[in-house]
Amino acid sequence: MDKVIGILAGSLRKESFSKKIAQAIVPMAPEGYRFQIVSLDGLEVYNQDFDDHNQVPESYKAFREEMQKVDGVIFITPEYNRSVPGVLKNALDIGSRPAGKSVWDKKPAAIFSNSPGNISAFGANHHLRQSLVFLNMPAMQQPEVYIAKANELFDDSGALKEGETKKFIAEAVEAYIAWFEKNAEA
Ligand code: FNR
Repeated sequence: MDKVIGILAGSLRKESFSKKIAQAIVPMAPEGYRFQIVSLDGLEVYNQDFDDHNQVPESYKAFREEMQKVDGVIFITPEYNRSVPGVLKNALDIGSRPAGKSVWDKKPAAIFSNSPGNISAFGANHHLRQSLVFLNMPAMQQPEVYIAKANELFDDSGALKEGETKKFIAEAVEAYIAWFEKNAEA
């Protein structure tokens, strides 16, 4: 059976560059793998009372169920105020609970950060890395994936243009698969 890699873009914006990078990655899955975009649209804000008082929203349930089925995760994160956008942190928090039932535990991960600017969401990339340590996700260290000038990478249809950045992303995906194979538990 194919290994399933969840692709999570940390933006709700319709024309999000992160969502477009996620779309571009889907057909890069090698044989034996399926890349599945997991949408964060509609995910409510985490409230521990919902878990503690058996009032778990449908959006949490659906997200947790979908994420339980994936074997690894590629995070495509933009940067808000030099950190991880709330929507992505919220997804990490929802998936981490109830305690002992985290959807993230031991799943190999990669972080692809992007920005229209030159710093390429470095701050978000490393803040996300900090959470993945606690969530016990082995996160690919090299290559580091910083994607600059995200606003210049797509054609009018929203597709990732041919060029150096597309090649870099494809190489990063390949490196992630090698990382996954070394770090995934049988
Ligand atoms: C931004 N943006 C931004 N960019 C960046 O490189 N570093 C940052 O710290 C921030 N901070 C920030 C805060 C807020 C609240 C917004 C709305 C935006 C710009 C950001 O990179 C840009 O809006 C991207 O287009 C967001 O990613 P998506 O939605 O295209 O995936």
